[in-house]
Amino acid sequence: MTAPLIDPFQRAISYLRVSVTDRCDFRCVYCMSENMTFLPKRELLTLEELDRLCSTFIRMGVEKLRITGGEPLVRKGIMTFFDAMTRHLEDGTLKELTLTTNGSQMERFAADLYAAGVRRVNISLDTLDDQKFADITRWGRLAQVIKGIDAAQNAGLRVKINTVALKGFNEDELFTLTEWCASRDMDLTFIEVMPMGDIGNEDRLGQYWKLSDLRARLRDRFTLTELTERSGGPARYVRLEETGQKIGFITPLTHNFCESCNRVRLTCTGELYMCLGQEDMADLRAPLRNNPGHDAMLEDAIRGAITRKPKGHDFDYSRQTVDGRVSRHMSHTGG
Ligand code: GTP
Ligand code: 5AD
Ligand code: SF4
Repeated sequence: MTAPLIDPFQRAISYLRVSVTDRCDFRCVYCMSENMTFLPKRELLTLEELDRLCSTFIRMGVEKLRITGGEPLVRKGIMTFFDAMTRHLEDGTLKELTLTTNGSQMERFAADLYAAGVRRVNISLDTLDDQKFADITRWGRLAQVIKGIDAAQNAGLRVKINTVALKGFNEDELFTLTEWCASRDMDLTFIEVMPMGDIGNEDRLGQYWKLSDLRARLRDRFTLTELTERSGGPARYVRLEETGQKIGFITPLTHNFCESCNRVRLTCTGELYMCLGQEDMADLRAPLRNNPGHDAMLEDAIRGAITRKPKGHDFDYSRQTVDGRVSRHMSHTGG
């Protein structure tokens, strides 16, 4: 292993989030516009390039890989990449290989993912109502995702559900969703909607549901015990004593979690974003493609990028101008 990656604020970078595709089979309204133009294939890192980059990061101290998208399971041949990462789990350098998925393809992949060494998955689900599900995803089928969740659990994967909290959309399902997850022994994380990408025509501000409010409503029904554990990420957790399940709250706009940030994110085109909420990025595709077989330049490029990791993000709902918001789509940076 080479020297670990330490940023200017003494935070060790041990977690890499990798978007393997910008494509998705859904078009969630808060994530994508209806008519997305996706990248041509030649722009994407190949599966071999993804392997080389991830392996370089692992050599430099990354211990957790989260594969995201778009929808990672729509990337052609993606199991080849997961299978390739198994060797790092086997030699102990990689501690966790996981993914965030919309669940639509899970039925097909669950057993193979388990065999590759994946043990936990995060599945996005905002509603348990068929029509609302079709509306929020623009055409997704809830039954397909539920089959995917079943398949994941049957394969032995631990499932955490991610729910974007949306005022006027899933407020009325707070308890139904919580109890449904509890009945299936799944933890649940609520996410405050973030001002990403194409928010122009949708009234994202009007849908902003503060999680402190959501939490107060949970407290009316359940006994909440604060948990101190953090994953180095943005979530804060409580345990519901009545159900035993863990509930996470991701509040990028109301809480500052940046001081313990341990993560960077790689896009499917090989850009390294040091922070989800900042525009600065480093191109790793050029050093990757220009130096086949020589990883020293690549390592230098990564080290250089980490020296630019900012202290914190820059989300701000009070600056609702095109200039003031982060204009990337979530599917580009992988959430
Ligand atoms: P862990 O790996 O356990 O930290 O899981 P996670 O909950 O971060 O992963 P997941 O991919 O399920 O992320 C859920 C959502 O949290 C993402 O889609 C983002 O909306 C948000 N999120 C994750 N990382 C960050 C971050 O560094 N900054 C901000 N602002 N939000 C993040
Ligand atoms: N704000 C908050 N969460 C978002 N996600 C996608 N777009 C946004 C947004 N604008 C979430 C999805 C999924 C994860 C990958 O990112 O619901 O859980
Ligand atoms: Fe696809 Fe996830 Fe974005 Fe929905 S939130 S469009 S499922 S990437």
